[in-house]
Order: sequence, then C-alpha cells, then structure tokens
Amino acid sequence: MSDSLLITGASQLLTLRGRGPRRGNSLSQLGIIEGGAVLVRDGRIAAVGPASKVERLATARKAEKVDVAGRVVLPGFVDSHTHLVHAASRAEEYELKIQGASYEEIARKGGGILNSVEKLRAATSQQLKRRARAALEAFAAHGTTTIEAKSGYGLDVASELKILSLHKELSVEQPIEIASTFLGAHVAPLEFRGKANGPDEYIRLLADWLIPEVASNGLAEYCDVFCDRGAFSRAQSKLVLAAGRRQKLIPRMHAEQLTRTGATQLAVDLGAASCDHLEKVNSSDVRALAKSNTVATLLPGCDFHLGLKQYAPARKLIEAGAIVALATDYNPGTSPTVSMSMILSLACTQLRMTPAEAISAATINAAYSLGRHNRIGSLEVSKQADIAVFQVEDYREIPYYFGVNTCWLTIKRGQVIYAAA
Ligand code: NIG
Ligand code: FE
Repeated sequence: MSDSLLITGASQLLTLRGRGPRRGNSLSQLGIIEGGAVLVRDGRIAAVGPASKVERLATARKAEKVDVAGRVVLPGFVDSHTHLVHAASRAEEYELKIQGASYEEIARKGGGILNSVEKLRAATSQQLKRRARAALEAFAAHGTTTIEAKSGYGLDVASELKILSLHKELSVEQPIEIASTFLGAHVAPLEFRGKANGPDEYIRLLADWLIPEVASNGLAEYCDVFCDRGAFSRAQSKLVLAAGRRQKLIPRMHAEQLTRTGATQLAVDLGAASCDHLEKVNSSDVRALAKSNTVATLLPGCDFHLGLKQYAPARKLIEAGAIVALATDYNPGTSPTVSMSMILSLACTQLRMTPAEAISAATINAAYSLGRHNRIGSLEVSKQADIAVFQVEDYREIPYYFGVNTCWLTIKRGQVIYAAA
C-alpha cells in the first residue's frame, strides 16, 4: 500500500492558512482554494494547492487517489471542550427541565453533576471505556479529529484517576487525539457537603494531593474549574488553578455560565488557555479577553439543550478582538452532542457568527486553545493530515443543513478513520 494519499476534486478546499489564532476580520478568512487538492505523505501534508499543480508532483502521481467529486474539504474539527467519560445519559432530567425545573434546582436536589457522579462511581472502567469509545467513533463520523476531554464526574481520588487513565488508554487505542484536562473542581462531592468548610477541605485535597498525583503520572495537560454559583468561588478556583500551575497544568475555566462571578478576569490574570461558556459576561470581561491570549470558547449547545435564551455575546467578543472558539461541551447534563456541524448551525443562527467565522472558531482557534495550532487546525504543508470532507458543494451548507450529518470522510494523521456508507 502507498504511504501517500492524494485528495482531489474538492469544490472548495478550506486551508485556514496563515498564522493562527484568528481575531476580528481574520476569522472570516478561510484561505479557500476552488478545485483544490491535498497530498498527504507519512501522515503529514506534503502539498496543498490547485489540483492542476499538486497532481503534477512526482509523489502525487504514485499516491493512492481519493476523488471527492465536488465536495468540500477542510481541516478536521477540533472540539476543545468535552466531558467525554461519563456513565449514562440524564434524559430524565431533560424531561424535568422541559416541564419547568431549572438546571440549578435539579442540582440542588442532588441531580445534575452529582447524579452523573453517582453513576460513574458505580460503573467499571470497561463500561466507561465502551461508552467513551462509541462517542469517539461518533466524533470521527462528524468530522472531528481532536478533542479535549475533562474528568469531573468522579470527584474522589480513585474515580478521577480512573477517568484520566481512560483518556490515556483511549489516546493510544483509537485514532482521535485527546487532550486531557483535570476537572476535579467540577462541584464539591456529596461527602464534603455536610459541613460549612467541606468544599474548602475538598479543594485542599485537590491542591495538596490529587493534582500532584495527576501531574506526576502525566495524566493531564490542563486543569479546569467550574467557577459559578453552586460550584466553586473565585478564591477556591484560584487555589486549584494555582496548584495546577505549580505542577505545569495549564489553566482552563468554566466561567460566567449561570451567573457572573468574575471568573473571566481571574482566568485572564492566570494566563488560562481558555475561558468557556461566557453567557453572562459583562463589557469589562469582553475587554479583558480581547486584550489577552485566553481563548473565549463558546458552547451554544448548552443554551440550546437547556432551552435558555441568553447566548454568549459572540459578536461583541469578535468585534472587540477576542480569540473566539466553538466547542460541543459534549456532556450528559447540558449538551449531549458530538456534532460540531450542529454547533456551527447554532453559532450562525443564535450567536450571529457567519459560517466562515464559525469554521475558523471550530478549527484553528480551537487548536490554539489546546496549544496545537502549529500542528493541527489548518491544511498547510508539514502540518498533520487531519482532514474532513463534507457532502456539500459550498462550505456554508455545513451549518445550513442543521441537524443533518453531512460528513463524508474523516482522515486522522493521513489514515481514513470514517467513511460514509
Ligand atoms: O460544561 N458547567 C459545568 N459543567 C458542564 C455540565 C455538567 C453537567 O451538568 O453534567 C458544562 O455545562
Ligand atoms: Fe463543560
């Protein structure tokens, strides 16, 4: 078998070339080549350009050929916020929410995240792995080639380590790349809720014991905190993220989702890679993000699934110059989807992002938030051959056909990992 692959016949080849990350107007520049071709060699991009030029190369003539027959070719999606490992759906809560219960009411009654914690603790590693693997296959089938994955449904030493070990095992056992994040500070577990300083004791357990353990075993790159009403305060979040920093775990943050807490400013001050959700940001938060290299990761799937009306102010963030990314937030409580194209549809209709802005946010900017923009997120010579092909003629049709999976072919490191029947 040939180690090179020539992808030709694209109606539009979206290269996303140029120096990432994208801010402001540059989010709209997709570097489109009409009738483009990509030559892949040893898992990397060897050439990219108009088909007439690429096909003439000596290696291209010997390569295995894939004619995409007028479809759209783009970099594989980078989904920079997921809660991959969990035991079960929370469809029963979905129904309660439709009938009027709020996300926070359900959480106060022991549902929500704690519901998922109870189920995860009772599940075996094998059961969790089976579910995560099925999700990873579904990610691939929707054109996603890299994900970030957070722990956070274990909330005790053994269960958090169980989740993070699964990230590591799955990284080598299947093709989707996984950036692992420690989210021990998702909420305080039940056993620490009995007394007033229980959550602080839990934070100390994370900072003094679990974070060093996670880092010394190479189980995570990032450390995340859910800073919100009903989760952790700014002071508690700072302790956790600082403890992570001491162990070389880069901060990320769930910020301003349910209430405005000032978590965004803290994330920026700590040099966080990403600050996520942002539904409740104010104008000073927007300015702080715009002046920083902290990515504003928007998760419109949450608001859609929870039936909430207030989406993050994407236009203000883009116009101020923030680095905006989009992600699914795949999780059983607020956003049970693996579909980046559905997230693009929501970004277009609800966040008023253009299809081009949404694609930049879901590829190169998301890659930047994972520190991988020099390797993935665009189709440029010497970058990794992570490629998605969609069954459309015009890239705008990817979000346009909402709720429909138009992904036709997914390639990771030069290997086909999904092909539509
Ligand atoms: O990103 N906001 C906190 N964490 C998740 C939801 C977790 C859950 O409800 O299970 C989120 O929305
Ligand atoms: Fe999340």
